[in-house]
Amino acid sequence: MTLATSDSGLAFDETEELVVVHDRSTGLGAAVAIDDTTLGPAIGGIRWRRYPDVDSAITEVRRLARVMTLKSAVAGIPSGGAKSVIFRPDPTPEVATRRSVMEAFGHLVKRLGGCYVPGLDMGTVLDDLRVLSTQAPDICVLEPSAQTAIGVFAGITAAAEVRWGGDVAGRHVLIQGAGHVGSELAVRLAQAGATVAVADVDHERAQSVAKAVDGVVVPVGEVIGHPCDVFAPCAVGRLVDRDNVGTFACEVIAGAANDVLTHRQAADLLRDRGIDYVPDFLINSGGVIAIHAQRARWDSDTTAEAIAGVGARVRQVLRQARASGSTPLDIAERIASERVGHHVSVPD
Ligand SMILES: NC(=O)c1ccc[n+]([C@@H]2O[C@H](COP(=O)([O-])OP(=O)(O)OC[C@H]3O[C@@H](n4cnc5c(N)ncnc54)[C@H](O)[C@@H]3O)[C@@H](O)[C@H]2O)c1
Repeated sequence: MTLATSDSGLAFDETEELVVVHDRSTGLGAAVAIDDTTLGPAIGGIRWRRYPDVDSAITEVRRLARVMTLKSAVAGIPSGGAKSVIFRPDPTPEVATRRSVMEAFGHLVKRLGGCYVPGLDMGTVLDDLRVLSTQAPDICVLEPSAQTAIGVFAGITAAAEVRWGGDVAGRHVLIQGAGHVGSELAVRLAQAGATVAVADVDHERAQSVAKAVDGVVVPVGEVIGHPCDVFAPCAVGRLVDRDNVGTFACEVIAGAANDVLTHRQAADLLRDRGIDYVPDFLINSGGVIAIHAQRARWDSDTTAEAIAGVGARVRQVLRQARASGSTPLDIAERIASERVGHHVSVPD
């Protein structure tokens, strides 16, 4: 059956399971999208935010869950992809504390019987996962930003090797977003000899990270079009669209932010402009690998090797893209689809 749905870019039958709940006692409103469990239990963070309506929340959760399927598959771990959203009530009902809302969400996770593995996402913190772990078994209480940054650094290094035949020393890297991942990435890049520029809506944070790495601050409004070798988006998604693709003044786009392209055609346009775009789900998989590693009780060496493997995977994808004329996005999707056993692509 193929039924197109609203704005998600996914047909009805492209999401394995979609659960939408309303808990009467706490007012919890939530949706869990389990995109695919072919390879294993589906990992995906819990987003806590305000949505204009339930349809928008469902559209977002399905799209994000699909990207998680691609991320796990391309990383080569036996996990599927999922995501959940808690519709932040406006205003928060006084009867419902955050704890009670998370407990109610924990009941839902338990009811899903282990096929959904929750983690952190925008608006949720480690304490939320601790509360979930009182209600549902096997909750992985982990803040994986450092591992994500290690993977992104390995990916940028690999992209530099494919592009310029060397490492990042002497390269100019602009990091948008000096938060958990961006700040750690800045330190690693600076240690490797790159010149780092940072932009953050929180100017003090940008200044402090720039100071720590002997770098400079770029005003947030000047990020797109700022000349650099590598542009590393580590803040918001939906950055590159058909209209602004011509204004990027970098040779490589590679960062932690999810959902960087507003439309898959932007990948073709970037290729046509000679810009190497490293797909977000390929380069930012360090965190999801760390979650799988903790659940599977991998030792630290095995985990570190798998995260460092982001570099080899980025190298492989960029080289294949160059050799075939395809975009890195097409190649990464092909690898993921082969692992999953059916076609998976980013929602358009
Ligand atoms: N943390 C992880 O393990 C992980 C894993 C995969 C993907 N990601 C993605 O990477 C990105 C960064 O994650 P994080 O954990 O570092 O988040 P974070 O919230 O710690 O940091 C984001 C930073 O971006 C800044 N920011 C927000 N909007 C901005 C804008 N328009 N311009 C410039 N700066 C802006 C914020 O002030 C903040 O400092 C997010 O898109 C996240 O979804 C993170």
